[in-house]
Amino acid sequence: MNKKDFLRVADYTKEEIKEIFGLTGRIKARQKKGAPVRPLEGKTLGMIFQKSSTRTRVSFEVGMYQLGGYPLFLSANDLQLKRGETIADTARVLSRMVDAVMIRTYAHNEVEELAKYASIPVINGLTDSHHPCQIMADIYTVLERRKSVKGLTVAWVGDGNNVLHSWMEGAPLTGMNLRMAVPPGYEPDKEMLKFGAELAKKEGTQMLLTNDPVEAVKGADVIYTDVWASMGQDAEKEKKFRDFKGFQINGGLMKHADKDYLFMHCLPAHRGEEVAEEVIDGPHSIIFDEAENRMHVQKAILAAHMLRGRKIKI
Ligand code: CP
Ligand code: NVA
Repeated sequence: MNKKDFLRVADYTKEEIKEIFGLTGRIKARQKKGAPVRPLEGKTLGMIFQKSSTRTRVSFEVGMYQLGGYPLFLSANDLQLKRGETIADTARVLSRMVDAVMIRTYAHNEVEELAKYASIPVINGLTDSHHPCQIMADIYTVLERRKSVKGLTVAWVGDGNNVLHSWMEGAPLTGMNLRMAVPPGYEPDKEMLKFGAELAKKEGTQMLLTNDPVEAVKGADVIYTDVWASMGQDAEKEKKFRDFKGFQINGGLMKHADKDYLFMHCLPAHRGEEVAEEVIDGPHSIIFDEAENRMHVQKAILAAHMLRGRKIKI
């Protein structure tokens, strides 16, 4: 691979996604065998967080360490960014000192701006519009379970948010069908809908948007949900909870899914809100494999981007 940045899933071609998954499998197998690979010896990763995180922080930090490198946690509260230093200057300065940057922030264009001015790789650890590392880990997790994801159907029930936007790119690029059930008024971004629909058409996969959760989950192989109120939406919480009535993933709704369905959630989850305990803690749930795979997939992403253009022998 010879890509500098990873800002959204569609930055990758189908072949590059396969390449990342292949590398993930090899890196994960070596780690599990107790013979970890250290291709990033001596390299450093700056990690900028403007929002809270458990999985993203820990998986990037531990992953970078396991690859032989050094991760630096940079809280937005302590950076000069907060006091008005420009993203462009921050990008130029960091490019002189670290070998790659991972950023979690609000507006997606901030990440694009950082990537534009940085000479080093920039990896998106979540914006209001995309969560690409999450969806790479999610699809890899399904692949581990099902050996092939081509032709499988993912049903999304919930908010038309950043995680769904990334599914709208990841599903077509890996041959999966995507059905999205959202309450009226909570549809994904219009441009994303257009982009996703065109991608699905090009790749020959199906994409359906509905307000009916049953229509989405009928016979689906993977059932996915996320919190109703994402980070930064606290003010809308109460209204959202009223509007999302009927969109909870529970045993009743799951009667319509395939009998071997996999339940997934990017986490953190709110039991009793978007998902009932009986499902998230039940036998179909693979949420902790999914969380663990964030680390393995991101290790492959870090290695591929930081050693871009070079052959990675693992
Ligand atoms: N799924 C995810 O990105 O989790 P965190 O917010 O804990 O990083
Ligand atoms: N949609 C959620 C995902 C958290 C990982 C959020 O943005 O808060």
